[in-house]
Amino acid sequence: MVTLTVNGRTHQLDIPPDMPLLYALRNHLELNGAKFGCGRGQCGACTVIVDGKAVFSCVTPAGALGERKIRTIESLGSAEHPGPLQQAFIDKQAAQCGYCIAGMIMRAHALLETNRQPSDEQIREHMAPNLCRCGTHMRIFAAIKAVIAKGEL
Ligand code: FES
Ligand code: FES
Repeated sequence: MVTLTVNGRTHQLDIPPDMPLLYALRNHLELNGAKFGCGRGQCGACTVIVDGKAVFSCVTPAGALGERKIRTIESLGSAEHPGPLQQAFIDKQAAQCGYCIAGMIMRAHALLETNRQPSDEQIREHMAPNLCRCGTHMRIFAAIKAVIAKGEL
């Protein structure tokens, strides 16, 4: 049995402790925002926030998390009521296929929660582990800058 605290709710899951967190989220908790891209910690499609830090859920064993607080993109808003970062990504049309976007937003959120006024260089450095195969990086960057300018997260 593995206990996971996700988006403020605690769940007891009958899964092996070495199951990747990504599978637990998607297959057992129906939180499908985080995506399976490479499965090797190399693309960032699966990024969620654990205790304030962006982590690759595809290479994080569910059983290793203990009481740590996990957040997925579902905690930031919904299609009807997007959160500020989600709205900025929509406004800047930062998605093409959209596969990388939940991971991008969660990585950006982790940065802005600890630093509300990051420099361009800090944004670039922080976002570097997440890849977008469609090449919308400049629009993603613009969406993050828009949220910083507005001052709402
Ligand atoms: S799917 Fe996790 S880093 Fe690529
Ligand atoms: S929008 Fe397609 S991978 Fe980023």
